[in-house]
Amino acid sequence: MKIYSTLIRPFLFTLEPERAHRTVFEFLKLIQHVPSIKKVLARRYVIEHRALESSHFGCHFKNPVGVAAGFDKNCEIFDVLPCFGFGFVECGTVTAKDQSGNPGPRMFRLVRDTALINRLGFNNHGADWVEERFKKTPAPEVPLGINIGKSKVTDLARAAEDYCYTFEKLFSFGDYFVVNVSSPNTPGLRELEKNLTPLLRALKALNLKLTGKSGTLKPIFVKVSPDMSPGDLEEAVGSCIKNEVTGIIATNTTLARDMVHLADPVEGGLSGKPLRRKSTETLKTIYRQAKGRLTLIGVGGIFSAQDAYDKILAGASLVQLYTGWVYGGPSTVTDINRGLIELLEKDGFKNVQEAVGKGA
Ligand SMILES: Cc1cc2nc3c(=O)[nH]c(=O)nc-3n(C[C@H](O)[C@H](O)[C@H](O)COP(=O)(O)O)c2cc1C
Repeated sequence: MKIYSTLIRPFLFTLEPERAHRTVFEFLKLIQHVPSIKKVLARRYVIEHRALESSHFGCHFKNPVGVAAGFDKNCEIFDVLPCFGFGFVECGTVTAKDQSGNPGPRMFRLVRDTALINRLGFNNHGADWVEERFKKTPAPEVPLGINIGKSKVTDLARAAEDYCYTFEKLFSFGDYFVVNVSSPNTPGLRELEKNLTPLLRALKALNLKLTGKSGTLKPIFVKVSPDMSPGDLEEAVGSCIKNEVTGIIATNTTLARDMVHLADPVEGGLSGKPLRRKSTETLKTIYRQAKGRLTLIGVGGIFSAQDAYDKILAGASLVQLYTGWVYGGPSTVTDINRGLIELLEKDGFKNVQEAVGKGA
């Protein structure tokens, strides 16, 4: 019997969605200070297998399934999430300025569609607070990504300065950084993904400066939306290649509503099952254009091993999930990793890396 789907989820789903998130979050915050509980969890949920392991941009991944940005916005529980089987964690979005986000309610469950809509609007404590938090906490055992965004009060014309502030503050704490230019909940933000070069140039210059004598640049990813026109997407991918970013995360949430059952319109970004096909198609398009010059991370509507495998076949070296964890509960990542081992074996692949892009 699955306790999550029969008992815990029905209880959590009686709560207002943001309250349910906070309840789970506070629980995770508590247990992250109890090593014995973390050990029990890891024994139950972590799957180790050679077929799941891979190395990218100087990091070793024990498995390809990570936590998507937005779950741990202030980088507070990155230490406990790997105990649930995640192979890497992405925190954020962190902005230069502390901001409370949009007024509530701002998170909605679409149970019939196995989806969520959120318009949180980058609620986070800001780069200075997060820097202090990192100073107090040892690095996690898995690769850690930090997703950065533009503060709402900063004009688009000064976006590069704003991103650079956060990048510099948190530089030494992340194994990779993600430039979020695709959240639909910060007015005008998506304009940046149509003209990436100025932002990417500024970050590259700062990356070179901060890297100094070590010579190893911090890997930088760009997170794109699934709603770009084919022309804009092609230009964005071209710009990423030209400016030598490490890779692309595809995708953020969508503004499309054609695939869900909604009596009244709800503003915000849609995630979960209805996003899956669109985000996989976007990933495939990027893979075909990039021809191996970018590392791709696939995210959007992953609930099962087959969903994760489809992203890998479409070109993703790594995958992430958020909504799938909300609906599926703590055993989701374990099930995905177990299933991936079987799917790889069935198709004759020795490991995840061999399967990347084979369906594109
Ligand atoms: C409640 C919520 C908050 C999110 N916040 C962020 C965020 O701060 N930064 C970001 O890049 N993506 C954010 N996302 C998007 C996810 O990282 C992911 O790209 C998207 O939800 C698709 O994956 P999923 O279908 O597995 O949820 C958020 C998603 C949800 C559901």
